[in-house]
Amino acid sequence: MRLRRKPWARPELAACPFFVDEPAALRGRWAAAFSAPQPMELELGCGKGTFIASLASRRRECNYVAVDLKSEVLALAKRRAEEEYARAGAPVDNLLLLSQDIERLPLIFQPGADRFRRIYINFCNPWPKPRHHKHRLTHTRQLGMYRDFLIPRGELHFKTDDDALFEDTLGYLAQAGYEILALHRDLHAAGLPGNIPTEHEELFAGRGVPIKYLIARPMDADPPLAGKEGGPAAP
Ligand SMILES: C[S@@+](CC[C@H](N)C(=O)[O-])C[C@H]1O[C@@H](n2cnc3c(N)ncnc32)[C@H](O)[C@@H]1O
Repeated sequence: MRLRRKPWARPELAACPFFVDEPAALRGRWAAAFSAPQPMELELGCGKGTFIASLASRRRECNYVAVDLKSEVLALAKRRAEEEYARAGAPVDNLLLLSQDIERLPLIFQPGADRFRRIYINFCNPWPKPRHHKHRLTHTRQLGMYRDFLIPRGELHFKTDDDALFEDTLGYLAQAGYEILALHRDLHAAGLPGNIPTEHEELFAGRGVPIKYLIARPMDADPPLAGKEGGPAAP
């Protein structure tokens, strides 16, 4: 994603009550970082925050953590969240934003202690060159890491425009011991109720690119509730 420099981004985030400046300080006690003890969900690579701002402001019975590498996009996510919560007439008290390299999540989340009901990965970089595949956020080695941050029966929700990434991800999931709960190669044609589009989803769907979507979870969890096709509605 190409972004103009935003000199205001870091100061604005530093002054934001729902931006976590030192996420490592909360390692092992993220649940206590929220005003209400509620299930937690995590978005990896939240970008400009269209998805998480909409989801978190609507689903007040859940706490949300959204991670991205870049201050420039997190500052836009912060503004998006303020707009969405203002529209909902609610304080931003169930959402935290933070800057972190996802490859180094164990620096800020403690395996087995900081656990999420869902992890969302939306339109991550497809890293098309084979030698770069290991950097994909859905690669087998990353899926192994996410397993430690999911509650029992916790779910991974993944959307992409990229066919090769989607098909390869099915292989990564099998290798990492995840089972597929729902799978759609054209999410919008499926007409699932409650889908919240991301900014990349709007872009690619607007160009007529089918959006691929799946829900999966580690197989050591309890037996699945839903069959492979269909499954729970998004989000
Ligand atoms: C293609 S954008 C997608 C943004 C948004 N999820 C959407 O669907 O519109 C990918 C985002 O992931 C972030 N990202 C990529 N690799 C990352 C990493 N290793 N750690 C944290 N964020 C990362 C980028 O900064 C970017 O904002």
